[in-house]
Amino acid sequence: MPALKVAVFASGRGSNLHALIAASKNGRLDAEIVLVFSDREDAGALAIAKKEGISAKHLSPKDFNSTEDFDNALIDALHRFEVKFIALAGYLRMISPKIIRAYTGRILNIHPALLPSFGGKGMYGHRVHQAVLDYGCKVSGVTVHLVEEGYDTGPPVLQRCVPVLNDDTAEALASRVLEVEHQIYPEALQLFAQRRVEIQGRKVIIEPSA
Ligand code: GRF
Repeated sequence: MPALKVAVFASGRGSNLHALIAASKNGRLDAEIVLVFSDREDAGALAIAKKEGISAKHLSPKDFNSTEDFDNALIDALHRFEVKFIALAGYLRMISPKIIRAYTGRILNIHPALLPSFGGKGMYGHRVHQAVLDYGCKVSGVTVHLVEEGYDTGPPVLQRCVPVLNDDTAEALASRVLEVEHQIYPEALQLFAQRRVEIQGRKVIIEPSA
């Protein structure tokens, strides 16, 4: 089976991108990251891509007359690189309906909590972990989910728990959650690379490995 051609979209530091690259290099992920895209010129993810010899593209919505023009330029790039799958890794812009339609069931996002709790617009970074602590939760975790229109609302593909400790701070919890993110994002993408995922409405069925 040919390796799945993936684009990673990231607005920030890119540690999940790094985990995906590492997994594809060491054989845990049968995907080729052919493009890293960012809406922010200074994103660490773009620097990681360049260092790894992966095509890195930056487009800023500010440089376009309309969102539609921005989306069209992005879709052009996806087609040029023959992208078959998109992994959002800390990408802070809403994905347009046009891209969602073009890649239905083929866009993943990772969220640093157990959705549907602690998700939605504005819930990113340390705000998520602080909200988990403020609520007094005993567990948090990671969700990898399919992307549909709306923030963090698509069906989960994999979820994993991370216990909350008595003396946790948002920083400490974030760092333990991030370690788990780095494990399960490659695992989730590998399920798609191996064509082991069947989507039945909101249910994502994972076929056992051969
Ligand atoms: C991660 O916590 C991810 O769950 C969230 O954004 C953060 C991105 O971190 N969507 P990084 O840029 O991959 O280091």
